[in-house]
Amino acid sequence: MFEAHVYRQRRRRLRKLLKTGLIVLPGNGELPMNYAANAYPFRQDSTFLYFFGLDTPGLNAILDADEGRDVVYGDDIGLEDIIWMGHLPRLKERARAAGVTETAPAARYEDAVKRALSRGRKVHFLPPYHPEVRDSLSRLLGLPPEELKAGASEDLIKAVVGLRIIKSPAEVREIEAALGVTARMYREAMKTTRPGVPESEVAGRLAGLAIGGGRGTAFPTILTVNGQILHNHDHSHVMRRGRMVVIDSGAESKSHYAADITRTLPVSGTFTTRQREIYEIVLDAQKTAIASMKPGVLYRDVHLKASRVIASGLKEMGLMKGDVDEAVAAGAHALFFPHGLGHQLGLDVHDMENLGENFVGYDDQVKRSTQFGLAYLRFARELRPGHILTVEPGIYFIPALAAKWKKEKQHPSFINFLKVRNYLDFGGIRIEDDVLITASGRRVLGPPIPKTVRDVEKTMAR
Ligand code: GLY
Ligand code: MN
Repeated sequence: MFEAHVYRQRRRRLRKLLKTGLIVLPGNGELPMNYAANAYPFRQDSTFLYFFGLDTPGLNAILDADEGRDVVYGDDIGLEDIIWMGHLPRLKERARAAGVTETAPAARYEDAVKRALSRGRKVHFLPPYHPEVRDSLSRLLGLPPEELKAGASEDLIKAVVGLRIIKSPAEVREIEAALGVTARMYREAMKTTRPGVPESEVAGRLAGLAIGGGRGTAFPTILTVNGQILHNHDHSHVMRRGRMVVIDSGAESKSHYAADITRTLPVSGTFTTRQREIYEIVLDAQKTAIASMKPGVLYRDVHLKASRVIASGLKEMGLMKGDVDEAVAAGAHALFFPHGLGHQLGLDVHDMENLGENFVGYDDQVKRSTQFGLAYLRFARELRPGHILTVEPGIYFIPALAAKWKKEKQHPSFINFLKVRNYLDFGGIRIEDDVLITASGRRVLGPPIPKTVRDVEKTMAR
């Protein structure tokens, strides 16, 4: 948790931005896994954490923009909870740490919202994703759950995004703390990845380090010899010589800030010539992208720059052909690089995705493309100091996609399908770092994690 004045200032800014009405900020409850008392590990809502830092279930909050009041609703625990769960300071005391002086019993939260509605006051709420919050808002507002997203307050979404998207130095330190743990996870991965070792063993070691150093992993780890499957959470393979393993993982800091790193390792400890050729293109795309990041630049243009490096490298290898700029403009490179270059990072690994990706990553100046590949870019807007973005280009050989494009004769003037056929057993390569936009440029956050061919091979040889 940060100091109380940080939360007070954030809430004051939010009330000022909204000018009028009630701002309802529900906290998360516990979520049953297989029966009510066996819950998933509790994760507080990130917007609630941003404005209050209070990290227990059963809390809701209301900010009154007209009266300048902030109230946290929740119940103090009883003897039974103390017996089973241990002591928890009184809500009044905990709220004080967040700079809140007004607290009230949990039941009064619904009364407060209903009273405001009956008086015709504006009630601002965010699009809910947690089932309990969705049920409660649906009941309170008299709206069917499926209409809550459309009924959410655009003013509140925009205000929250505007505040959360600019990271303070203290938030940057949290992300760097998460990256410190993550760097240890990758050293361990480079030490333990060997032919004959199950993916699950390395994934388990990463999880252990993430739990030991912070709050566990910030998202389900991707660790797979089938890196061509972009969000592959299967860890059931034994790693074999000749394959590569894509590892996309990151720790969550004590205050719940995420790290998000990807490295691709040769299982044998040494890249083959074919692997190295593709690896160098991805690394070049990543480094070129990072070098071009600074305030005022559109992240869409950084994505396109990385795409051109990829198309140009693949053309040199004979996998693509024709004019590189034209190929990228047509979206032909997306056969190999079908996702966006990166996303905002913060309390959420895809920061604020639940508020609506277009509110975070797009604006009046930049609209989302409908072109395959570019359409998946989560953030395209102008970069500003305080933004933190992942930069994660990749090259993948996805047999189903290649077969479809070949059959449909997509981009035959830019793609050499005959040569692509020789790579269908290749897998994929992705390299990802987390980058802060500064006043004059950018800074790659966290301790360096080996990523050149030489450094990866050297680290794996130790
Ligand atoms: N770390 C997974 C992703 O960015 O989608
Ligand atoms: Mn990522």
